[in-house]
Amino acid sequence: MVRAVQIKRTGGPEVLEFIGKNIGEPKDEEVLVRHTAIGLNRYDLEHRKGFRKIKDLPSVLGVEAVGVVEKLGKKISDGLKVGDRVGYCTAPPGAYCEKRVIHQKYLIKIPDEIPDETVAAVLFKGMTAHYLVNQSYKIKPSTVVLVHGASGGLGQIICQWAKNKKSVVIGSVSSDEKMKIALKNGCTYAVNYNDKDCVSKIMEITQNKGVGAVYDPIGYATSKLSFESLGKFGIYVSYGQISGRAPVSFSLLSSRSLFATGTSIYHYKHDRFTLALTAMEIFEMVRKKLLTVRINKKYKFDEIIKAHRDMEDRKVSGLNIIKIS
Ligand SMILES: NC(=O)c1ccc[n+]([C@@H]2O[C@H](COP(=O)([O-])OP(=O)(O)OC[C@H]3O[C@@H](n4cnc5c(N)ncnc54)[C@H](OP(=O)(O)O)[C@@H]3O)[C@@H](O)[C@H]2O)c1
Repeated sequence: MVRAVQIKRTGGPEVLEFIGKNIGEPKDEEVLVRHTAIGLNRYDLEHRKGFRKIKDLPSVLGVEAVGVVEKLGKKISDGLKVGDRVGYCTAPPGAYCEKRVIHQKYLIKIPDEIPDETVAAVLFKGMTAHYLVNQSYKIKPSTVVLVHGASGGLGQIICQWAKNKKSVVIGSVSSDEKMKIALKNGCTYAVNYNDKDCVSKIMEITQNKGVGAVYDPIGYATSKLSFESLGKFGIYVSYGQISGRAPVSFSLLSSRSLFATGTSIYHYKHDRFTLALTAMEIFEMVRKKLLTVRINKKYKFDEIIKAHRDMEDRKVSGLNIIKIS
């Protein structure tokens, strides 16, 4: 039996419950992993609330964790060994537990010099940022991008990555305090999206050309600003809808021949090769200090419900993890 945190129905933090879970033995291509650190993601909160679908309930929550291989199934073909340090972030929910049996196809080996906690904080967000800046909209040097939620977890990684691609990054946040975090994470400029002159500021920065792309996890609350900030042929990249759906129509898009895309990590990072290649790139950037992983808060396993309350109450955002000692 291992300790795990599950939900039987969607709802507020009160639906989270600690249980004892019988995980059994790894079969065939499965591996038993003892977790050392779990990534805390707003995605988990959205699963809990039902904004993002979970296939079957009851379900243990959590999409990202790091740990040590303890046992192997009989058909392991990926060179995995007992004692290897591994991480994952694209398996079905189930990371909020002390140990987990998981298919080998999701596992990424972690290089010796990168600590577990760093990986737990950056793997999911790094994988997502990677496709956003390379595929959803391929950032080129000197292009100007607007990144909403720039002080948030994913926002921090997108901004640093876009800066590495030598683009001009405008980080958009909801308070002056968060502007400091945005600037620390590679933004060339920081703006407050609640400021009524925000669009004018963006037009001033872009010399009235508008931005090439907007990266938006917020949706409804920032969509008007997003579309007003886009230049001709610009693209609105939606990767979340924290405040509700962004209203998008063809007449809005045709006003400047704009594009819009809604994205999911599970489409871009679906196969083993892509996962391993992207992970290598993330680890290399961390090693070279091109990506700084600033862990904001470390919760204990016993504090998972509190961590969800903090996310819900907007007391915590950014890169946060759950430690298993
Ligand atoms: N599509 C994908 O493949 C994919 C993958 C991973 C994550 N995501 C999504 O990315 C989004 C961000 O995740 P994250 O872990 O980076 O979250 P986070 O650290 O909590 O950051 C979210 C940011 O959103 C802003 N925000 C605006 N309205 C908010 C509200 N009502 N409540 C809370 N925050 C609000 C906050 O910044 P301000 O206060 O400055 O606005 C906050 O910093 C989530 O919606 C998640 O589901 C998508």
